[in-house]
Amino acid sequence: MVQKILMICLGNICRSPIAEVVMVETLNKAKVQNVVVDSAAIGPWHVGNRADPRAISTLQQHGLQCTHIVRQIRKEDFNEFDYIFGMDEDNMKELNRLKPSKAKAELLLLGDFGLEKKNRIIEDPYYERGAEGFETAYQQCVVACAAFMKERLQK
Ligand code: 4NP
Repeated sequence: MVQKILMICLGNICRSPIAEVVMVETLNKAKVQNVVVDSAAIGPWHVGNRADPRAISTLQQHGLQCTHIVRQIRKEDFNEFDYIFGMDEDNMKELNRLKPSKAKAELLLLGDFGLEKKNRIIEDPYYERGAEGFETAYQQCVVACAAFMKERLQK
């Protein structure tokens, strides 16, 4: 059976594309098959664009590629995906508000897997100067994706 994971953040240009690529890499390295991973935005502002150049270059520095094109979350996603991850509490509030009453997807904060409580929010690095916040988000995703995989996807 195929399991489907959707990574969500506000703009889908910084955190969720990183989370998507890191989750795919984590699963590939562990040879976990039959998992589909995608990402999407809460908001419409960047639909059709590539990820922020700082997200792309952060991933490149770790040998990873990001070819994602931004899309906005839609109602059907809540029934098509098994797991929908938010990066911060605002994302979770918005996901809970958008979720249809009978939805298949489980809504989870990515940082609730593997990260310490004080470090569990994957902060928005968009308005920061430079790419340091992108590296921090990447490192948080590496830990959280591995922990989620172990807890939920590896039997
Ligand atoms: P993200 O960062 O949610 O991690 O992709 C943001 C990118 C763009 C905007 C906000 C957050 N924006 O308002 O355009």
